[in-house]
Amino acid sequence: MSLTESRLPAGALPVRVTAQTLLHKKRNGEPITAITAADYPTARLVDEAGIDLILVGDSLAMATLGQTNTLSITMDEMLHHARAVARGASQAFLVGDMPYGSYQVSETEAVGNALRFIREAGMAAVKLEGAHPALTARLTAAEIQVVGHLGLTPQSVHRMGGYKVQARTLDAVEALLEDALALEHAGAVALVLEGIPREVAERITRHLEIPTIGIGAGPGCDGQILVFHDAFNLTFTPGAKFVRRFADAAALFREGLAEFRESVTTRTFPADAESYHLPAEVAAALEPLVKV
Ligand code: KIV
Repeated sequence: MSLTESRLPAGALPVRVTAQTLLHKKRNGEPITAITAADYPTARLVDEAGIDLILVGDSLAMATLGQTNTLSITMDEMLHHARAVARGASQAFLVGDMPYGSYQVSETEAVGNALRFIREAGMAAVKLEGAHPALTARLTAAEIQVVGHLGLTPQSVHRMGGYKVQARTLDAVEALLEDALALEHAGAVALVLEGIPREVAERITRHLEIPTIGIGAGPGCDGQILVFHDAFNLTFTPGAKFVRRFADAAALFREGLAEFRESVTTRTFPADAESYHLPAEVAAALEPLVKV
């Protein structure tokens, strides 16, 4: 099914989801849908399914490049994936994930890197992990939309001592709420909340004007996001508690691969109908094949 057939009346132009669309959804109590994509085909599928937001998340370092964490992926690698995603998505709100080291060291460098996501890769916004209200304000002033990301922030894996649920004490809950409000005040257009108790996410969601998008943060957020490869069983590891497998793409691929192997080894692929033929007169003039 083509993009036009799937979502739009004939002749209508795709309508792009914007930060205002997301805000409107929050205000109307309509859940926001979000998922990651890392390449052209996944972006196309996600976009055609009518998902509101596509994140080119740095989790692609693990999910598509087989790295052990998200710390070594570079700006250039992220841009390479972001460009492919942008080519595949004409409607979703596109967010590029600023990789580790691209924004923590120098604010000037951070602005330059964020601009690359917008100018070179067609993203509508960038995402920053952690509480960076000053940088968020600076990027917002430079017309770069920012999505915040608080709670379990995988780029802080060493400081957190592993991928652990965050904000489990009263002090930590208050600190998280303060950080969330500071990001909103600085101009963030949405906030990802990851790996926190559902009660905390509900509280933050109620306090903020901007939409919250949860992952492992319970049902009380304004929207939900999952990593594409987790949701469709392409990660080859037992998922975290919050991951639901919505389809088993690995099983489908295994079945198809076994059939391909069988068809080639039994010489039933390619069939005659899958082969090209010479024009009849050229074929007739050809020397018959003689086995030596
Ligand atoms: O990198 C990523 O995929 C993310 C999501 C988990 C929110 O940051």
